[in-house]
Amino acid sequence: EKGNFHHFMQKEIFEQPTVVAQTLRSYLRPLERKVALPQIDFDISAVDRITIVACGTSYYAAMVAKYWFESFARVPVDIDFASEFRYREPILTKGGLALFISQSGETADTLAALRHCKAEGQTIAVVVNVPTSTMAREADLLLPTHAGPEIGVASTKAFTCQLAVLAALAAHFAVKKGRMSAEEEAQIVDHLLEAPAALNAALDHDEDIKAMAPLVAPARDVLYLGRGPDFPLALEGALKLKEISYIHAEGYASGEMKHGPIALIDEHVPVIVLAPSGPLFEKTVSNMQEVAARGGRIVLISDAEGLAEAGEGCMATIEMPKVHPLIAPLVYAVPVQLLAYHVACVKGTDVDQPRNLAKSVTVE
Ligand code: F6R
Repeated sequence: EKGNFHHFMQKEIFEQPTVVAQTLRSYLRPLERKVALPQIDFDISAVDRITIVACGTSYYAAMVAKYWFESFARVPVDIDFASEFRYREPILTKGGLALFISQSGETADTLAALRHCKAEGQTIAVVVNVPTSTMAREADLLLPTHAGPEIGVASTKAFTCQLAVLAALAAHFAVKKGRMSAEEEAQIVDHLLEAPAALNAALDHDEDIKAMAPLVAPARDVLYLGRGPDFPLALEGALKLKEISYIHAEGYASGEMKHGPIALIDEHVPVIVLAPSGPLFEKTVSNMQEVAARGGRIVLISDAEGLAEAGEGCMATIEMPKVHPLIAPLVYAVPVQLLAYHVACVKGTDVDQPRNLAKSVTVE
């Protein structure tokens, strides 16, 4: 069932262009250039606060979604880890929407948070990959991802499909709230439709990533840096590396580095910088220079423009296609997944069944 692939995780990484396209098909109408959501029987324009709850990689999708809901629809979004949310007496206002993100639809903490919100009268929306799951059954609004079964314990294709659904949902909110014109909506649809080809272009760099993985594999600690909607990708990259290669890794918002983690930097700590060219690029480059000045070894992941400007002096560079900022979090997921994958292969760990981890965490 793995076909030509060595591991399910690898196969699932390579399926992303197909499954993201498949997922987008149920949320977009390409010819009309409109977002199309399942029948929603509550008034979106009345929703003035969204609470998003999830765990692990699904939580990082929530972090990206917060940027989108707030910037497109100007709706304030609270996000929380399910394990924290359920015990912190969250403030839920009447008429609020609670959104749960889960690949399995069975994660115990997320499900408990869902039931708490339901009891508090919130409208319950879920983004889930398993359509027969408990969360899918208990939702008022079911927003499925069509990633297909995810076997590798480390989540990959479910994450990019979650992002695809969340981008469409945020645009839908913006339209309903009168914050997005038909032309802006059409452009969002066009950009989302570019995602599958851009994911393919990112996957084309698999061999380059495999070739540089031996530079990262001996490290004891690795730092990932990103900004804005790509900051959660730094967290996701660090999580993937920890999970399957057992190397200690941390993700940081680029600008936070000088507030502490820079103390860790020396020639033994690879620093993976996620930086698509664009308005925030210069800021990230100056953070990179701070790392370089302390002997840190940088792996810059950027597009041709970014690499031309700042690639010199890096230990390695990974080229990504130049994409619209909206789809950058989907596209930059690929190199961090592949880097973790190839580093784990160098180390010879059990990629699909990492120690101590279960695919679905159904106990608290
Ligand atoms: C990371 C990973 C976990 C899950 C988390 C939530 O690679 O697999 O962090 O993302 O356990 O699981 P779901 O999405 O099934 O609720």
